[in-house]
Amino acid sequence: KMDKFVSELMGKMTVDEKIGQLNLVTGGEAVTGSVVSTGVESKIKSGQIGGIFSMSSPAKIRAAQELAVKQSRLGIPIIFGMDVIHGYKTLFPIPLGLAATWDMTLIRESARIAAIEATADGLNWTFSPMVDISRDPRWGRISEGSGEDTYLSSRIAAEMVKGYQGTDLKANNTLMACVKHFALYGAAESGRDYNTTDMSLHRMYNEYLPPYKAAIDAGAGTVMASFNDINGVPATANKWLMTDVLRQQWGFKGMVVTDYTGINELVDHGLGDLQTVSALALKAGIHMDMVGEGFLTTLKKSLDEGKISLAEIDEACRLVLIAKYKLGLFDDPFRYCNDKRAKDNILTATHLAKAREVAAKSFVLLKNEQHTLPLKKSGTVALIGPLANTGSNMPGTWSVSADLENTPSLLEGMQAALGNKVKIIHHLGSNLISDAAYQERATMFGRSIPRDERPEADIIAEAVQVASSADVIVAALGESSEMSGESSSRTDLDIPATQRRLLEALLKTGKPVVLVLFAGRPMTLTWEHEHVPAILNVWFGGTETGKAVADVLFGDVNPSGKLPATFPKNVGQIPLYYAAKTTGRPLAEDAWFQKFRSNYLDVDNQPLYPFGYGLSYTHFHYGDIRLSKTSLRPSEKILATVRLSNTGNYDGEEVVQLYLRDVYASITRPVKELKGFQKVFLKKGESRDIQFEITSEDLKFYNNDLQFVAEPGDFKLFIGTNSNDAKETQFTLLD
Ligand code: IFM
Repeated sequence: KMDKFVSELMGKMTVDEKIGQLNLVTGGEAVTGSVVSTGVESKIKSGQIGGIFSMSSPAKIRAAQELAVKQSRLGIPIIFGMDVIHGYKTLFPIPLGLAATWDMTLIRESARIAAIEATADGLNWTFSPMVDISRDPRWGRISEGSGEDTYLSSRIAAEMVKGYQGTDLKANNTLMACVKHFALYGAAESGRDYNTTDMSLHRMYNEYLPPYKAAIDAGAGTVMASFNDINGVPATANKWLMTDVLRQQWGFKGMVVTDYTGINELVDHGLGDLQTVSALALKAGIHMDMVGEGFLTTLKKSLDEGKISLAEIDEACRLVLIAKYKLGLFDDPFRYCNDKRAKDNILTATHLAKAREVAAKSFVLLKNEQHTLPLKKSGTVALIGPLANTGSNMPGTWSVSADLENTPSLLEGMQAALGNKVKIIHHLGSNLISDAAYQERATMFGRSIPRDERPEADIIAEAVQVASSADVIVAALGESSEMSGESSSRTDLDIPATQRRLLEALLKTGKPVVLVLFAGRPMTLTWEHEHVPAILNVWFGGTETGKAVADVLFGDVNPSGKLPATFPKNVGQIPLYYAAKTTGRPLAEDAWFQKFRSNYLDVDNQPLYPFGYGLSYTHFHYGDIRLSKTSLRPSEKILATVRLSNTGNYDGEEVVQLYLRDVYASITRPVKELKGFQKVFLKKGESRDIQFEITSEDLKFYNNDLQFVAEPGDFKLFIGTNSNDAKETQFTLLD
């Protein structure tokens, strides 16, 4: 029925109208580059626009849709997109924080709520999930993905798609997903945004491509091309990637959209003029052109000159129309424009409560010496630091639709959660960054952090004075939200120096100090780890950050977040990730330097905090691993069991992690790869057997001929609390 409908419609379309469907313009609410499109209204009427993104509210969307369906010749409805990345108006933690929950149910629920809110506000398409693996925390957009790990990211990718798209895309509360940025955007050289990527095929297939595929297998309706080049060919013009891999190998049937001016950027990549690159993109397998209007302005000419075929235009147009059909836009183009839904379904008490729960579960307790945490709900807390009273920074990067001005700050959220049980006094403490120009770059897009232009020593002295009357100091420090995200790469991942000096002064008071760290990426915290008794990494927790921080600091919630990316000791160790290769000259276990071995002179090879790490207020004890058998045939399975005991003083959740290592293989294999995890709640004193099933599917990898195989031989199996602290055993895969 759908195919018949679409081909009948296309039968009535002129070539210009077909090309018009491939044009995606911005509605102006999130402008991240030059805006090419002008005269949007008349273009809609003349059928030159297929989609609009970054425009919201039923009123605005209805008005634009009316122009399309009532005033264009064929009345083809517009698709409306937006970057709904970690919530819509109710903001959840940034994706890296969501990943730190390791809680697939909550992650799916957060995407479901985002879809309910966004569709209530007129939208039907989200540019999410972002599933780019990154092992370089200098890259600002590491904040927008699920971190460094292939398996964890793949699981999350699927959950996000299911959360957005639900079971029925035609329901008016589901969003079509767009998995991005295809591909390898997170592997940008030197962590500098938009930079080149160059990678072996087996690394691509084994480590970087699976999360995109997982999203597609989960049904993601659309794909977004990445900005970067891949082994010499930019993704937007990369036929091997967009057609051979995506469509032929993976069977993807939906449409592919460029990133913002992605086609125009092919000119800067050096592939030719706008006409040439637009034709290249179409031929590669791109169907919609975001913002740049290369398709709109050149495809007809290329067709007339025989540089592209009508079949290529038809295919792109068909896929755009199918996406609209699947969303039910041809049945009712106004199905998402309902003022009552917008009023009733956004920022509801239920959504806010879920955001608070998810935020608290995303926080990672990095250090807690001498039970500094949890705090007692009494006395006076000095909440000091430039990030303590800045509501607009709480939602984190890519929160296009958030009401930044009305988001409660950490101070306001904590006060609301604690009432008058705890007295909170506050001082700015220091600027975010001494350099005013840097601070300005770090607070763009409606974020604000107060500045005090007095000498630093005076500001810090005043803060110490305020703190002197408190029982405990909570230092709210780290990055502003716009110090990570797009175009926010950094080469220095320390807490800015002026904040570090504030922290030193606060520690000198001799009072207990808790560092509440705001971060959109793994930071280098070697000094802080050595000197500060308690560190709680809260990423950017979204709308309810303040209340969630209070929940964890004061023990209403026992922290259970685990790092989805390695925290290095210094920037020189980057890239540092747990699933690395061994090298031919590995260090002896426990050695930190050996001459003529793979290491550095000035720092050991270990991270400060490994992948999967995160403390709890309670303690979990792991028993030895019991295997149901020690060898398996390809058709069989092994059950691996550990006894997990909560031996501490609090109820709590633990993420039990399963890693495998292929000891000998035809290509070098990582020293460890995550292959399973379970988030388990145990009451204090409780013990439970935790069981994992391993089949030969879990042992497969892409060999040098890109065959997905499990090679017989020995495998190590680890189960533990993080990638560096796990019980170990061994089994054999038989022929
Ligand atoms: O979806 C985003 C993408 O992640 C980065 N460039 C702009 C797009 C649309 O806003």
